[in-house]
Formats: sequence, structure tokens, C-alpha cells
Amino acid sequence: MCGTVGLFVGCSAVVVCPLRSLLRDDATAPSVDGEPPPYRSPFATWFERSAVRRMPRRTLAEVTAAELFPPELVPIARHPLVQGLPPHQFDEVLTQHAYRYLDFTAKLEHLVVNRTALGIAHDTLGARVHEDMRFDAYKIYCDEAYHALFSADLIRQIRQATGIVPRLGDHPYFLNRLAEIRERAGSRLAPLVEIMFVICSETLISATLAEGSTDARITPALRESIRDHALDEGRHHVYFAAFLRVLWGQLDPVLRDQVAELVPELIMAFVRPDLPSLRGELLAYGLRPDDVEQVLAETFPAPVVTAYAQETASQTVRYFTELGALDNDRVRAAFARHGLLKGVLV
Ligand SMILES: [Fe+2]
Ligand SMILES: [Fe+2]
Repeated sequence: MCGTVGLFVGCSAVVVCPLRSLLRDDATAPSVDGEPPPYRSPFATWFERSAVRRMPRRTLAEVTAAELFPPELVPIARHPLVQGLPPHQFDEVLTQHAYRYLDFTAKLEHLVVNRTALGIAHDTLGARVHEDMRFDAYKIYCDEAYHALFSADLIRQIRQATGIVPRLGDHPYFLNRLAEIRERAGSRLAPLVEIMFVICSETLISATLAEGSTDARITPALRESIRDHALDEGRHHVYFAAFLRVLWGQLDPVLRDQVAELVPELIMAFVRPDLPSLRGELLAYGLRPDDVEQVLAETFPAPVVTAYAQETASQTVRYFTELGALDNDRVRAAFARHGLLKGVLV
């Protein structure tokens, strides 16, 4: 079983999740003769173009905090109570933001995305996919492992250059939120929930990377690593949009509705700020608890979080709309409840 504990440490069933029992045996949706649907690989030039194959190690020798992430890109750094911190603590706010971003990336790739990539590569998820799609999962596995590696590498280099110790918990908060959704969904649906989370995150992440990849204020090593990542994720986005269509065709209508109703929560699990981590950090600077709550409430009011989710997830929501997932009233209501329908025709 892939339980909550397995999510964090890598369970023995990592590539043998019981998804197979959820899929339609008749599987007429992929094609009438049982063959998987046609697949056009976005990885045709992967050996020549992927970051792990082509890009140099990104290195930084000296760096100031503002060159990691300028205050304009660090939400809490725009708040007056944070701007009033002593200069060395304000610098640490910017540096911890870099650590948090890089650690989020490393954990997402290793602990979540690559579990699904492994399952597709070894054909143990239960979903029937085109042979080329299965082979491409090996490439995604390499990509994500490298994204985790260069993120961990940069954390070490930044620590070396700044002397600032990362304030990182055992895992980013999105893993807690995913575990909660899986638990609520029940053991039968849990493997499918995790795969849907991967599909959501893989079709969302390219939008979140675009901003930093061209910002000249960010130190070259970090900016170039974001760009390396964004280029790889462009291919992953195309792949997982196609994988969603394949998987959808193999789910029965009841299961489609059940999992689609959870998709808004999965999207929000990915895009919501890590408030527990930020709270702990701000308290550690000596801010009073009331002031910390004020910073968080005023930096991340619900409309701001919703607007960010809408902007980031619009393409993902469109994919589910095109599949007819939102034709179900309960599913559409769930998307509307999280404010995810704005700008998307349904
Ligand atoms: Fe990645
Ligand atoms: Fe990816």
C-alpha cells in the first residue's frame, strides 16, 4: 500500500500501486482494438537538448541576498513589518526564500513526480500507454532526478557563499496537504489521487518557472538553473497533458467524477504558500506572533492566492474542461468554489 508514510520515505510499492484495479478492463477509450492511442513524443531531441545531457553545472562563487531573489519576487519581503527588520535579517528572508524554493523543487521531483514516472516506465501503474510514452518516462525520471540534484547543489553553494543556514523542515507543506487529500480519498482512490497531483503539478510548473527564468536581477547560476528547468518542463507539460487523456480514457465515469472533484484541491495544494514554514521563520527573527499573523494575512489574502491559482492553473483547468470533467455539476462546483473557473470557458 502507498500510505502516508510511504509518501515521504519511498514505500516498497512505489512502482506497484493498486491503480490497475481501478481501470476499465474493456478499455475501449484508448482505441477500438485495445492498442494505446497514437502518441507523438515531445522528447524526440531529448538526448541533445535536456538539461541533464547538455547543460553545465551552474555555479556561484559570491552572491548577495538580493541577487538570489530580489525583494519584488519575495512576497513577504514587500510587507512593511518585514522591511523593518535589521538588514542582516532582511537579507536572510531573501536567502531563505531561495532555499525554500529549491527544497520544494527537490522534494517534489524525488518524492512525488518520479514515483509516477517510475510507474509509467515499468508499466506497473496499471494504465496502458504507448510504448514510446513508456520509454519517455525514463527520460522524465532522469530529468527530475537532475532537477532535484541541481537544486540541492545550489542550496549547498548558497550556504557556502552566504553562511546562512537553511531553515527547512523535514518536508515542504505541500506534501502534508497531498497526504491529507489522499487520506480523505481513501485507500482505493489514493494512488489515482497522487497521479492526478503529478499531472496537475507537471502542467502547472512550467507557468511558475517562466517568471524567474529571464529575470536579470537573479544571479546567473540560479536564473540559468530556473531556465534549464523551464525548458525541460515544457516537454513534461506536453507529455502529462497527453498522459491525462490516456488515463482518462481508461477510467470509468464514476471514478472520473470522484477524482475530478479532488483536482481543485490538488491544484491548491501545489500553489498555496507554505505558511507554517514562513510563520516559523518570521517568529525566529523575533517578530511578535500578532505581527507574524498580520504579515501572513496581509501578504496572502484569499483573493491574491486565488488570483495566482487562476493564472497558474488556467491551462490545467482547460485540459480537464476539454475532457468533459466539468460537465458534472459537483465537479464544476468544486472548481468554482476554489475560484478556478475565471477566464476558462465551461
Ligand atoms: Fe522538474
Ligand atoms: Fe517535470
